[in-house]
Amino acid sequence: MEERDDDVPLTKTKIKVGVVYSLKKGIESKAIDEEAEYDNIETVVAINEALSSNDVEVINIEADQNLFDKIKHEKVDIVFNIAEGIKGRGREAQVPAILNMLKIPFTGSDETTLCLALDKALAKRILSTYNIETPRYLLIKADDFNIPKIKLRYPLIIKPNAEGSSKGIGDTCVVSTKEQLVIELIKNRELYHTDILVEEYLDGREFTVGLIGNGQNLHVFEPMEIVYLSKTQADYCVYNYKIKQDFQKYIDYKCPSTIERKIIEKMKKQAKKIFNVLGCRDFARIDFRLDSNEEIYFIEINPLPGLAYGYSDYPMLASFCGMDYQHLIRNILKAGALRYGIRPYNEDDHESIQ
Ligand SMILES: Nc1ncnc2c1ncn2[C@@H]1O[C@H](COP(=O)(O)OP(=O)(O)OP(=O)(O)O)[C@@H](O)[C@H]1O
Ligand SMILES: [Mg+2]
Repeated sequence: MEERDDDVPLTKTKIKVGVVYSLKKGIESKAIDEEAEYDNIETVVAINEALSSNDVEVINIEADQNLFDKIKHEKVDIVFNIAEGIKGRGREAQVPAILNMLKIPFTGSDETTLCLALDKALAKRILSTYNIETPRYLLIKADDFNIPKIKLRYPLIIKPNAEGSSKGIGDTCVVSTKEQLVIELIKNRELYHTDILVEEYLDGREFTVGLIGNGQNLHVFEPMEIVYLSKTQADYCVYNYKIKQDFQKYIDYKCPSTIERKIIEKMKKQAKKIFNVLGCRDFARIDFRLDSNEEIYFIEINPLPGLAYGYSDYPMLASFCGMDYQHLIRNILKAGALRYGIRPYNEDDHESIQ
């Protein structure tokens, strides 16, 4: 059981949960996806409603620069964390680090896992030492203005190294010549000022795999296949920002997928291994893509996946697998709370994660 603040009693009948979040602010920017990772208030309200019950009191706390004082003052038993943080490569780690410093329990992965997962190149590097296949890549640092010698096989996909929600992944992100590559690199650097990942593009089928729970109770949902109704960029299929905004038009989600069971089982096994190797907790979503020989490749992991009702992939795949939004959110809380020895709901209301 994990360490918790001594003044939080274990035997209270009602627990107090703080939903901690980062909201979109409508910041003006040249990049249309500037605030892609932040949440709308509707998501906070949906989580609040899903968690509220006779046993659970819920309050909302915005993860702004006053978080430290606000969270100390509120004396919550546990935080339901969906905060993306404010700035920097380690931004997703900011809230968990503050909570750990204050010894406040929280759902989801800790700061170290969130940092290394957000850095795609770092996660790929670590996972490749565990024999997880991932596309070959090159990392270009934000302050490196030389166009590097590329030893990778075209086509290549260009994406910011530490973003999510397809931020920075546009209509022209797959390139098949050096000239196109240079144009994309310059564009990316100007808009996002971040390290850039240049990765071999895989042209096989795409899947995202959700997980929930911990240890023996870690459950892997059926992989959800992202089936493209039309090519998104010339000859390429990319689940880019525009497609995600208008997914009903471009995507058919298949869960379960019709692909061979052997591939599904292998992917689920890999997802579990990745979750554990990176020290994830409570929930995560992992993206995979196949190559033309149907070999499975890890693309990236989201230990803080979006939870927007009716929009984000994670609640969508859970619902395909029979776990509706309310149960999903409660099960995330339960997974986190149980690690600290807190029982968020009474036994009559106890839903199994499996
Ligand atoms: N190496 C690759 N080969 C083929 N397609 C890729 C590759 N890398 C990324 N993609 C495409 O780009 C999409 C977005 O990439 P990625 O998942 O790395 O970005 P993200 O912004 O972190 O996504 P999320 O919204 O899941 O946080 C993928 O879903 C996939 O369609
Ligand atoms: Mg992704």
